[in-house]
Amino acid sequence: MIQSKVEMRSTPRALARPSIVALKPYTSARDEFSGTARIFLDANENSLGSPLNEAFNRYPDPYQRELKAKISEMESIAEERVFVGNGSDEVIDLLFRVFCEPGKDKCLICPPTYGMYEVSAEINGAEVLRVPLTKDFDLDPQAIRNVADESTKLLFFCSPNNPTGNLLDRDKLISIARSVNAMVVVDEAYIHFSKAGSIVGFLDANPNLVVLRTYSKAWGLAGLRVGTAFADPETVALLNKVKPPYNVSDAAQRLLLGALENEDRVLEMTGEIISLREALTEDLESIPPVQKVYRSDANFVLVRVSDPVAIYEYLVDRGIVVRDRSRVRLCEGCLRITVGTRDQNDALLRELRSYGENVG
Ligand SMILES: Cc1ncc(COP(=O)(O)O)c(C=O)c1O
Repeated sequence: MIQSKVEMRSTPRALARPSIVALKPYTSARDEFSGTARIFLDANENSLGSPLNEAFNRYPDPYQRELKAKISEMESIAEERVFVGNGSDEVIDLLFRVFCEPGKDKCLICPPTYGMYEVSAEINGAEVLRVPLTKDFDLDPQAIRNVADESTKLLFFCSPNNPTGNLLDRDKLISIARSVNAMVVVDEAYIHFSKAGSIVGFLDANPNLVVLRTYSKAWGLAGLRVGTAFADPETVALLNKVKPPYNVSDAAQRLLLGALENEDRVLEMTGEIISLREALTEDLESIPPVQKVYRSDANFVLVRVSDPVAIYEYLVDRGIVVRDRSRVRLCEGCLRITVGTRDQNDALLRELRSYGENVG
């Protein structure tokens, strides 16, 4: 049954908007000439320099070749499978532009999940189909297959999921990818905080799979704005067609290349954040206003409390900001708390205890 559907799956190119497949993309000066030369007078840059010491007067490499070579080596993924965006939020938007004809095509999400899938869908005129996660925040593959129709071009899954923190079942994700004729996007923004493996190894066998990653979380570089998509080369080529020519700044490319030399520090921080998360989970569970702490594979925890809005405001009054998710379906009563440093977590726990003693 699944096998016959596999054979029916279209290539990314066949799923893309015909106008994008036919599009003749803008060619930048750096597209037309990418070699070395004595004098560059082709891109209307400022030939005299800039007010900075660093040479930022030149446009960056539009295809981030040096960066991609490094990422490809580190992740053991062929370079033609790597797309680099201005944060993974840009990649989400570009996926809509490539695959969803405004006013016609749809996407499917499994709420509660990361809010930008829905916002990007609305911006791009794509209807959103919703198949909520189960009460245990798990996927319902049959319901997903039933709801996805011919014009559903993008399915978004977030694993570990924001805001619930749990990993989605990889076998279910693969079975969905094998049985739908649509692009299946798995957002692994938080995968480094999980002991489970990535789904990246399934890219070869599933040309409709797209794996999103970001340097904003484990790598600690949210301010640089760099995210990646690992995907079939056809998908990468389509994304390259629609992206703004110089979507990742020279500063971001150079700084990230430098940071990538320091993976050991990232592994160290990630290990520490995981330990802090486990300690925070345990400590939160012992505080009266806390009713439940959901197990997390990310760098945050979802916490159900007695009175989320009052506790949120109580914390803000004391200079601590968490995220109120209590109005999100299936997250009723919940706050989402990012794992802080040991001192920050201790300060949060102190305030929550004092809330319990004084107000709760
Ligand atoms: C699941 C998920 N994906 C993507 C992003 C955005 O990442 P970036 O900073 O790379 O745009 C976030 C940010 O919070 C996120 O939670």
